[in-house]
Amino acid sequence: MTEKRQFRAIKGTRDILPPDSALWNWFEQTAREVFESYGFRDIRLPIFEETSLFARSIGADTDVVAKEMYTFEDREQFRVAHPLTMVDVIRIDEAVAEAWQHGRIPRTLANETEVLRLHEASQNIDREGTPALLCFLDSVRNLALGDSLTLRPEATASVARAYIEHGMHTQPGNVKLYYSGPMFRRERPQKGRYRQFYQVGAEALGQSDAPGIDAEVLEMLLVFFKRVGLTQTTLYVNSIGCKECRPKYVELLREELRKVKDRLGPDSQRRIDTNPLRVLDSKLPDEQPIIEKLPRISNHLCADCGEHFAKLKDELHLRGIVYEENWRLVRGLDYYTRTTFEVTAAGLGSQNAVCGGGRYDGLVELLGGPPTKGIGFAIGTDRAILSIQEGGKLPQLPGLAVFVAWMGAKSYPAAVAIARKLRECGLAVELPPEEMKFKKSLGLADKLGARYALIIGEDEVASGTFTLKRLADAEQKKLSENDLLEYLESERRGSGA
Ligand code: HAM
Repeated sequence: MTEKRQFRAIKGTRDILPPDSALWNWFEQTAREVFESYGFRDIRLPIFEETSLFARSIGADTDVVAKEMYTFEDREQFRVAHPLTMVDVIRIDEAVAEAWQHGRIPRTLANETEVLRLHEASQNIDREGTPALLCFLDSVRNLALGDSLTLRPEATASVARAYIEHGMHTQPGNVKLYYSGPMFRRERPQKGRYRQFYQVGAEALGQSDAPGIDAEVLEMLLVFFKRVGLTQTTLYVNSIGCKECRPKYVELLREELRKVKDRLGPDSQRRIDTNPLRVLDSKLPDEQPIIEKLPRISNHLCADCGEHFAKLKDELHLRGIVYEENWRLVRGLDYYTRTTFEVTAAGLGSQNAVCGGGRYDGLVELLGGPPTKGIGFAIGTDRAILSIQEGGKLPQLPGLAVFVAWMGAKSYPAAVAIARKLRECGLAVELPPEEMKFKKSLGLADKLGARYALIIGEDEVASGTFTLKRLADAEQKKLSENDLLEYLESERRGSGA
């Protein structure tokens, strides 16, 4: 007997069910409308990419790359005959040696070890028998022949990769792109933190790094948040310098951190060597007074970065954008230069960042493309929607417009025909596939949240009319087909359905 078992969504992933899914669609659709009004266009990106794209862009020492990526081998295996003869062993040994020589086996350290072990074992089989054969088979299985791929933990790296791959630098003006979709990070799940989460993001790439671009991107973000009713937000901005001034600041920070090493926790102690900037991100209460006394990057920016940041603040002022400067906002990904920003929202507890972003002027070049400036952000859709829901100001979304309550076999053809016509007008219509008692039919219409019940009985069929009942107040009208279509059409336009 087959085992009866219930499957459940994997930890850290979840289903977005109706009616929440309508809220999600509305959120993403509003983003599209706002972003397109600023000249951004949709880009659809793959969900997985080469692992090294993320490692190189985001940085090997970041939490995202070091701990959180879903990485897998795009497996191709050597086929091993069963039972294995000595001729097969020799054939496999030769094929592996040849593939290794010609670079068809990815040249990783692990593969190099297995290639050597496999060859050695094949030479020993005659002498040692089964142990050598098992060792041989083990190595064959361990060879990682396929590419290492990773489910995207974010999309900026993919945008930069696509920008280079499609020669987008030749396009006129700035290349302004937006995207929306799932991202994957193996973090500890909690409220507002998932392993499959969603982002809506925007990126502007091109030759100019004018602070006006940064300010416009931030304006667009805040216009969007206002449109979706996400108003209890705080925008934090910072500049983390460029490749000229930041390394000097990082060295200074490292020196200062070494002096207080003993008073820091193990994570921060480790980061003194790997990534001292990340110490500024620490939330540990004991570390706060120490961090407050550390040198601040704003006092160590080079003249160009200082000017860029000052102009950005002027631009934000010009646009009436309220922000707080936060010298500790260094962000967790390595590609940032100069402007960094984050938006927090109410009602989210500890995971309250609903958006993060900044400049990444060297990223395209780092990935082998032409010198290019870039800035962008990603909004955490899960968190933004959670905050909207907690705020309680939900939009009125068009639900079911009409429930066709038909009675009697003779009225069914009229019900089918009118349902189709109403749907063609863009209305959401429910047509019961089987006859229902009148009371039950209206009860279901109510439960489904329909705005109207369209009553079609034998009387209506005989007189060529329809009875339309508004369920909110039970007001009822008798209408001809034309009048009905006209009435509901104008109602649809009025309700935005
Ligand atoms: P990020 O700060 O890593 O930046 O992520 C942006 C937003 O995604 C966060 O503020 C948060 O709202 C959401 N988020 C991140 N991880 C999770 C999670 N595990 N569960 C739920 N939501 C999450 C980036 O991803 C950059 N690519 C942003 C960017 C675009 N920078 C320049 N362009």
